[in-house]
Amino acid sequence: MQIYIEKDYCQLSKRAARIIADEINQKPDIVLGLATGSTPMGTYKELVRLHKEEGLDFSQVITFNLDEYYDIAPSNKQSYHYYMQHHLFDHINIRPENIHIPDGKAQDVEKFCIMYDEQIKDHGGIDFQLLGIGENGHIGFNEPDRELKVLTHLSKLSKSTIKANSRFFNSPEDVPDKAITMGLGSIMRSKKIMLLASGRSKASIIAKILTEGRTTTSIPASSLLLHNRVTVILDEEAASLYNKPASTRGENIRDLQIRKNSGYEKGGKNVVTYKECQSGHTF
Ligand code: PGA
Repeated sequence: MQIYIEKDYCQLSKRAARIIADEINQKPDIVLGLATGSTPMGTYKELVRLHKEEGLDFSQVITFNLDEYYDIAPSNKQSYHYYMQHHLFDHINIRPENIHIPDGKAQDVEKFCIMYDEQIKDHGGIDFQLLGIGENGHIGFNEPDRELKVLTHLSKLSKSTIKANSRFFNSPEDVPDKAITMGLGSIMRSKKIMLLASGRSKASIIAKILTEGRTTTSIPASSLLLHNRVTVILDEEAASLYNKPASTRGENIRDLQIRKNSGYEKGGKNVVTYKECQSGHTF
């Protein structure tokens, strides 16, 4: 696991976009898994800039979005279809036929979910999956539970997610209580994964995952500890509890061992801080 700690949201977004751009340049027909929510907005803005100012080419890129509310039409301004068009797709040269987002109006949801997973498989799987994280540790809409679903499915949103997402709606009652989401298996089968977390509200869940070093279905994002090509980009606020001195973080020898094995011990070579940006890095 490689962890970047950036000074602020702006630097986090630039770092994330640059990593994605490098992936696209290396493999122009890359299959990208995309996320929504407030966290990736800056990344998308920067990708649009890279397209417009540096010619980043999306003409062969294929995308699969993680999730979509159910039951909500693509034209609805709260839909993730609308979000993706608005924040990214309308501003780049991606082919509409290369865009895949779960159908929030699917009549036969079960059939749709099977087809979505088949489509991902037919494209050779996801090369690079972008993720945000919920305050409760969800990824996509895989909510904390006793067990986690492997494949794309209809998920019931937890109360805390409905509350967190109500900021995008007029009231919590307006937030759909279901969503179609890729399952944990669909996410974990991605060849590379990049998780972004910004702000103090994510500090506690990030610290828990990174310092406890164990996976549990009550924190779906902790599954990422089992994947060997994960990049985590945090801003200083999201890293603020993770950054606390070891003595105040309740670490034990076992945690230290796991951190060492994962190659992300503080100050280790895999930890890159925002200082890199200040010393003439290309941001
Ligand atoms: P956020 O949501 O980016 O709006 O914080 C992330 C998530 O819930 O996965």
